[in-house]
Amino acid sequence: MYKILKRKVIAAKTVMLHVEAPAVAKSIQQGQFIMLKLNEYGERIPISISGWNREEGWLRIVIMGAGRTSNEILLMQEGDEFESLVGPLGTPSHVGKFDGTCVLLGGGYGAGAIIPVAQKLKELGNRVIGVVGARNKDLLVMHNELKEEVDALYITTNDGSEGIKGFVTNALSSIMEKENVAWVMGVGPVPMMKAIADMTRADKIPTYASLNAIMVDGTGMCGACRVTVGGETKFACIHGPDFNAHETNFEELMLRQGAYKEPEAIANEKFKDFDFSKI
Ligand SMILES: Cc1cc2nc3c(=O)[nH]c(=O)nc-3n(C[C@H](O)[C@H](O)[C@H](O)COP(=O)(O)OP(=O)(O)OC[C@H]3O[C@@H](n4cnc5c(N)ncnc54)[C@H](O)[C@@H]3O)c2cc1C
Ligand code: FES
Repeated sequence: MYKILKRKVIAAKTVMLHVEAPAVAKSIQQGQFIMLKLNEYGERIPISISGWNREEGWLRIVIMGAGRTSNEILLMQEGDEFESLVGPLGTPSHVGKFDGTCVLLGGGYGAGAIIPVAQKLKELGNRVIGVVGARNKDLLVMHNELKEEVDALYITTNDGSEGIKGFVTNALSSIMEKENVAWVMGVGPVPMMKAIADMTRADKIPTYASLNAIMVDGTGMCGACRVTVGGETKFACIHGPDFNAHETNFEELMLRQGAYKEPEAIANEKFKDFDFSKI
């Protein structure tokens, strides 16, 4: 069993948890993920890691309520336990020492997922700029934690309630004007990652996206997480989740993500009118 050691509500329908998992914490690297299962009746869902403590044996995760399972996790409290936690899964992010500035862009839980990547890029001696975006200032998450790890942080909100008004791509465009950008990575909603790839393609700036394909086993056996990159079929869970964003077929990814909308809505029926403001 994997105990919740710490829990904090960090925005509407979003919690940050420290989960006890000493074996995974010992070896996990930037960009890898875990599969979590709540109890014997639960499904397994893939979750990114926003930090860890190897000595104390815990992982930091950020959960945004998207449907039945993630909503159930929002209700879990300190001391509660997950039945299963499997990891580290996936291939670590493709980092190195680059001849120019690295830019990491995060939306939603992606703002947490880019933190270990920022730490590794800094460790390798890079200049790193972080960008965190949200619809409004109340939905911004993990920007304060990311700020500690980067040389500069940009915030964007769609309504202009904090930082630059607009999308993370508005910040990226102003960074590209000022800096020699050598490497870019985006983690967040698919339209955001596609927009980032479209901006850096002409300048041939190496750009990665963390593909949030639907996953079942997370170990390359079921094929659920099939994505097309560079015209080839890849499994996001073992070949990724990070892929060359310029070669990714984002339209296919979006279609496949939406394949189970109806059963997902039925499964989430119990939370349809649930008041999450009191969690
Ligand atoms: C590598 C990876 C890392 C992720 N990291 C995080 C994270 O750190 N925090 C977080 O809140 N979410 C993360 N997600 C997304 C999370 O796994 C899904 O939101 C979750 O599975 C939704 O399940 P649900 O039952 O709550 O909602 P559902 O109603 O089942 O789904 C809501 C939407 O989530 C997506 N989804 C559903 N099932 C899966 C699945 N098994 N795998 C991937 N996507 C699915 C679909 O697009 C679906 O429309 C990650 C996904 C991937 C692939
Ligand atoms: S989740 Fe089954 S092959 Fe990737």
